[in-house]
Amino acid sequence: MTIQQTLQRATQQLKNTCERPRFEAELLLAYYLGKERTWLHAFNDYEVENMEAFEKLIERRANHEPYEYITGKVSFYDIELMVEHGVLIPRPETELLIDLVAEITEREQITSIAEIGVGSGAISVVLARKFPNLKVVATDICDTPIKVATQNIQAFGLENRVKVIKSNLLDEVTEKIQLVVSNPPYIADDFELERNVAEYEPKEALFGGKVGDELLKQIVLDVQARGIKYLACEMGYDQKEPMTQFFNQNGVQSYQFYQDLAGLDRGFVINFYKDNHDKKNL
Ligand SMILES: C[S@@+](CC[C@H](N)C(=O)[O-])C[C@H]1O[C@@H](n2cnc3c(N)ncnc32)[C@H](O)[C@@H]1O
Repeated sequence: MTIQQTLQRATQQLKNTCERPRFEAELLLAYYLGKERTWLHAFNDYEVENMEAFEKLIERRANHEPYEYITGKVSFYDIELMVEHGVLIPRPETELLIDLVAEITEREQITSIAEIGVGSGAISVVLARKFPNLKVVATDICDTPIKVATQNIQAFGLENRVKVIKSNLLDEVTEKIQLVVSNPPYIADDFELERNVAEYEPKEALFGGKVGDELLKQIVLDVQARGIKYLACEMGYDQKEPMTQFFNQNGVQSYQFYQDLAGLDRGFVINFYKDNHDKKNL
């Protein structure tokens, strides 16, 4: 079969799964052939060999498996990271969390950060690349994220500055930390997710408890109890109100919520050392 015919067939097979079936068919064929997507257009009469192997990739995608697990790679911020089953695929929203943390890190000359829930290492790797003097301790409770994050950290030569440890929240972190960043699991246990997420992404990365915000609240308490100045967290679009109430109940006075590019509430930054609502200068 030629490239043109292969793409027509694959597009048909993906039309019930993908919003952009032709585009994804092209991405998968380019990946399979080890070429750029634009190359396919220039050589659309080229015969594709070993169609069975390519068909298997298309079948996986038609069964809702995320593209990133099939290729083992994800583009995030300004880098490409390795991912595999058992590790959350980092989302574009999380880039906003990184930018907020970067702003504080630069302004406050922060040199020591902890990340809770390292996953693929996306947040820690990007921050460490941005700030050559920054040291990061990143935790996770699951083995696969620890393995994959370690591989990504090594791939960027950051192993001297980014340490990954198996730990519930910050329990095993002994270093003096100035800021904690986390994109924790924050979805309610009974929330119905899309098939590509529900069937393929790790439950430990998604579900935060019966209500969903349990782990977020525990993180706030832990960071407060350790006397760490800053906490920056991603959260669910419907968690601003319960988190505000929780802050008020626990004497957290200086905090700021942020929204994602779709205008949805997406997270917060706390400065535990400020005793007023000066929202401009967290
Ligand atoms: C939503 S994922 C975030 C991964 C990555 N930081 C990112 O933004 O792409 C949450 C991560 O937290 C980890 N996790 C869940 N509960 C945890 C806990 N109690 N302590 C540490 N890590 C935890 C999960 O295994 C998962 O890797």
